[in-house]
Amino acid sequence: MSPRLNLLAPEVRANPYPHYAELRRTAPVCQVDPGGLWAVSRYDDVIAVLKNPQLFSSEGMRRATCPPWFEEAPFAQSMIVQDPPEHGRLRVLVNRAFGPAALSRLEPWVRQRCQTLVEQLPAEQPLDLIDAFTRPLPASVIGELLGLEASLQPLFKRWADDLTSVSSVAPGDTARKEEIRSTAREARQHLTEALAQRRRSPGEDMLSDLLATRVEGEALTEPELMSFLFLLLIAGMETTIHLLNHSVRLLMEYPEVLARVRANPSLLPKLVEEVLRYEPPVHAIMRVTTAETELSGVRLPQGAWVMAMLASASRDETRFPHSERFELERPGPQNLPFGHGVHFCLGAPLARLEARLGLEALLSRFSGFAPRGPVTWNHSLSVRGPRVLPVELFPSTSTYR
Ligand code: HEM
Repeated sequence: MSPRLNLLAPEVRANPYPHYAELRRTAPVCQVDPGGLWAVSRYDDVIAVLKNPQLFSSEGMRRATCPPWFEEAPFAQSMIVQDPPEHGRLRVLVNRAFGPAALSRLEPWVRQRCQTLVEQLPAEQPLDLIDAFTRPLPASVIGELLGLEASLQPLFKRWADDLTSVSSVAPGDTARKEEIRSTAREARQHLTEALAQRRRSPGEDMLSDLLATRVEGEALTEPELMSFLFLLLIAGMETTIHLLNHSVRLLMEYPEVLARVRANPSLLPKLVEEVLRYEPPVHAIMRVTTAETELSGVRLPQGAWVMAMLASASRDETRFPHSERFELERPGPQNLPFGHGVHFCLGAPLARLEARLGLEALLSRFSGFAPRGPVTWNHSLSVRGPRVLPVELFPSTSTYR
């Protein structure tokens, strides 16, 4: 019997795609390490899992993020850990505050922010693009949405790192547990102040909309509201950072694509869609089976931890011809990278907007980018991206080397 694939092994992290292809070919539903999770790697099976929340429950997300030692776990009441019908009630309440009107209100602000950040980037010297651009952009957009002071944005990385590491804390590591609790208290205090400020003087912004929203006379409760704000902080940062990182990495790898989008920026939305398919920021999402079931002929027991592998499904050759090629011409949009079914990403239009405007601003000032050091990959089963992105940027007037 061949050993189980370890998805966190360094060689798999460095390039998981050949391993995903092997799974799709030989064992489309099978147990992998760490922990014997059930990996579901083919497109049709991933869709089957995500569109059946009765059988494949998001309770798995709750167990991973709300352990007993974390009494006030920030996601406990959020929609991402709920199944229908409760999930639907929360989603309807926030949909309006996050709809097209809110997005068009935000667009000029995001455009201006992209330009300011790009103007501050130093040319022709090595820098970490994550520190300089791809983190500050989503951090400031989330900060603006949540009504938090700009001076707090440098804290968001620690908040996100701590709150997403809950499931990997060793049972006896009391110091780390206290650190995470303390981060949650700190973030909660700032979010509470922002909410109180909007209650006193409502404006034209998402927090005010959330406070005012009623569906059939019902508002979000205070814990639901707080959980949602925490969810936005986490769900909207790391994912968008890596969409920008992967876009720049792929433009360095495919200079002919860079030349085409520079000559014709209206191709940028197509570029973003193909980056989402080819290098999706979210590789896997967790579910737990509520009853014994069968998938692609494999029996899954009740209570099985199932990983719907979005990044493998996006390379499924039965769905995407020449799936291993990065091709601008591919028909889009590519929605699976944002999930499927009731939990489809609430922030997908915002993520697409940030990526398009961020790349537009970068390409208007720089003719190209070149790698200036090796990429090391983060250590997470769900989101894959580089820890640092060392690059050099060449201004439009200089020759790209
Ligand atoms: C490229 C960027 C992004 C990617 C790839 C992404 C991906 C995803 C995925 C795969 C899910 C489904 C999770 C599940 O089914 O369990 C999801 C849900 C969600 N995302 Fe995103 N996301 C991105 C950006 C954002 C942004 C910018 C926001 C908000 C500021 C956001 C807010 C949410 C929320 C609130 C949910 C939960 C929806 C629900 O449970 O009904 N995301 N996202």
